[in-house]
Amino acid sequence: MKVAVINFSGNVGKTVIASHLLSPRMPDAKIFSVESINAGADADGLEVEKIRGKGFGALADELLTAEKAIIDVGASNVEDFLKMMQQYAGSHEDIDHFIIPVVKEQKVQKDTVNTIRSLQQIGVKRDRISVVFNRVDVDDNVQADFGALFGLAATERSFRLNAAAAIYSNEVYERMKAAQTSLGAVNADDTDYRTKLRAATTDEEKEHSVNMIAMKRLAISANENLDAVYKIIFK
Ligand SMILES: Nc1ncnc2c1ncn2[C@@H]1O[C@H](COP(=O)(O)OP(=O)(O)OP(=O)(O)O)[C@@H](O)[C@H]1O
Ligand SMILES: [Mg+2]
Repeated sequence: MKVAVINFSGNVGKTVIASHLLSPRMPDAKIFSVESINAGADADGLEVEKIRGKGFGALADELLTAEKAIIDVGASNVEDFLKMMQQYAGSHEDIDHFIIPVVKEQKVQKDTVNTIRSLQQIGVKRDRISVVFNRVDVDDNVQADFGALFGLAATERSFRLNAAAAIYSNEVYERMKAAQTSLGAVNADDTDYRTKLRAATTDEEKEHSVNMIAMKRLAISANENLDAVYKIIFK
């Protein structure tokens, strides 16, 4: 399976979805980061192949033979990426699914609609597009907060939304970014940080253990949340 994460808006969670939602659930999938300005998933300690500007042709070639891939399309490259798919007619067929993260801001909701429309223009059918609501709080009303999107989905029927495909705000993502680690690595780490904390002699060691304990706790709920979202997308 090959999945692209895309949105004209930046800062919506594309890299978080690529590295923490998809990567741990798609073993052996290579992550391609189409980025020019901001850091892609390699900032989270994952191995990532960076594609820039004229490297799009090489990406199209690689997607042909790859069995699994995660493509994180940085906001500043979405336009070029779509152009590339248009040029390489039919190349969007090499990507099975498109995930579009969205956050509440009105501008982002607008950009999200434009992203969906652009994908549809190059021939991507609605069943291959999933919108993921990001930075949602547990007591939020997704339908109300993303009213612009739900309104349009109801009248146009050109795309479908599932309010349950929501990633909750969780500070673990920021912490993992700072610690350059990923959800997969945090979950797999079975170090006893409580014992380590007791044995710590320097402030640095203490701080590291405290941070790891916090991350491991936060990661449990994040993981359950992402499992559920993954199931909704790929049921
Ligand atoms: N559900 C969430 N809860 C808390 N923080 C989040 C969540 N999703 C993303 N973030 C944080 O928001 C910031 C933006 O996320 P991310 O880097 O994944 O966005 P992006 O769409 O890849 O941005 P860009 O367009 O710059 O590449 C990051 O610092 C990330 O840790
Ligand atoms: Mg990014």
